[in-house]
Amino acid sequence: MAMPNDADIAALDAADPLAGFHDAFSLPAGVIYLCGNSLGPPPRDAAARLAQVTTEQWGAHLVRGWTEDDWIGLPGRVGDKIARLIGADPGEVAIADSTSVNLFKLLAAAGGLRPGRTTILSQADNFPTDLYVAQGLADVSGDRWQLRTVAADAIADAIDEECAVVMLSHVDYRTGALFDMSALTQMAHAKGALVLWDVAHSTGAVPVDLNGAAADFAVGCGYKYLNGGPGAPAFLFVARRHQEAARSPLSGWMGHAAPFEFVPDYRPAEGITRFLCGTPVVLGIAGLEAGLDVTLAADLASLRTKSQSLGDLFIARVEELCADGDLTLASPRAAAARGSQVCLTHPNGYAVMQVLIERGVIGDFRAPDIMRFGFAPLYLRYAEAAEAARTLADVLAARAWDQPKYHQRAAVT
Ligand SMILES: Cc1ncc(COP(=O)(O)O)c(C=O)c1O
Repeated sequence: MAMPNDADIAALDAADPLAGFHDAFSLPAGVIYLCGNSLGPPPRDAAARLAQVTTEQWGAHLVRGWTEDDWIGLPGRVGDKIARLIGADPGEVAIADSTSVNLFKLLAAAGGLRPGRTTILSQADNFPTDLYVAQGLADVSGDRWQLRTVAADAIADAIDEECAVVMLSHVDYRTGALFDMSALTQMAHAKGALVLWDVAHSTGAVPVDLNGAAADFAVGCGYKYLNGGPGAPAFLFVARRHQEAARSPLSGWMGHAAPFEFVPDYRPAEGITRFLCGTPVVLGIAGLEAGLDVTLAADLASLRTKSQSLGDLFIARVEELCADGDLTLASPRAAAARGSQVCLTHPNGYAVMQVLIERGVIGDFRAPDIMRFGFAPLYLRYAEAAEAARTLADVLAARAWDQPKYHQRAAVT
């Protein structure tokens, strides 16, 4: 394929069926935002929605909001909206807690369904919180469960009869590599193991079909491609066939069958509600719903096609324009094997990213040397992907990163 020139890129933007969504978000002028895989930008109506819940619900109804505004039903009602994005049925998804806390609950629930099996198997380079939570669960379980990690490409062969649950991230947070959810779930089931998928880096940008893949459990973040706002609540999925037998170890009152009977003994609610723990974060869920509603208005197949084309265009432009021999592609080149991000390594990747951010191209950095560029298809333009590559080429050609101030590490990278 011939390299697209500026006119071709303008034509791609003009023909983009998702182009209208750019204006649904508030993005500062002069910024090319390639960090939606970490924190999505605010939808234009997020502030109004939060203000509405604050004044018309909280302010007007006070504590009656729990029933008059059905705050108590929010985790399930908004969970059903997420279900439409991840191939789940109504009643299989709830909004709750953080992804880390949900991992703990669902790992323990999955392990409990496989008595006699002792291993939680995961990829060695899984997102750290997934591994930390599994380690913590193993610790509190005494000797019941251990975490075993192997390289991502060795997972399939490592699933054995000891394995209770396989815990995998659908998209690798460092490289963007995409697991075959259906094939791995099948392999795990063939060995009698259950699978818990972390779909934080796919939901909203990469098609996820949990029931199509016969997945057992899943967790994901609200603040990435769902644009739910900083610290937005997370979601959890439990396949309906497991809901009756599975138990959450965090048996809080919101997961009780009758929380307002205030009885002393725990009795789990029916369905997905038993995986709730404490009071729903009403304002947080309102922000998340504002983001979700924008994504739900988009055609999901177009999101994937555009995300792949944006990544392909960026890679092609980087390879055409960047002469720096230290720059390497860390993501799969084939779009079908990639999530919605492109990762490049460079020995001075941290400093290079600081210069890019200073010039308005906002990506992020993951140790030891990875620059991540997230291509959120909902609001990015092809011209921005091309411009980001051009800016990177300029920074590298001029060695603009080679100043001490760009090497000072911030607390959050
Ligand atoms: C794959 C993955 N899982 C989990 C998390 C963390 O989730 P939380 O901080 O909401 O617990 C992240 C955060 O970036 C992530 O990338």
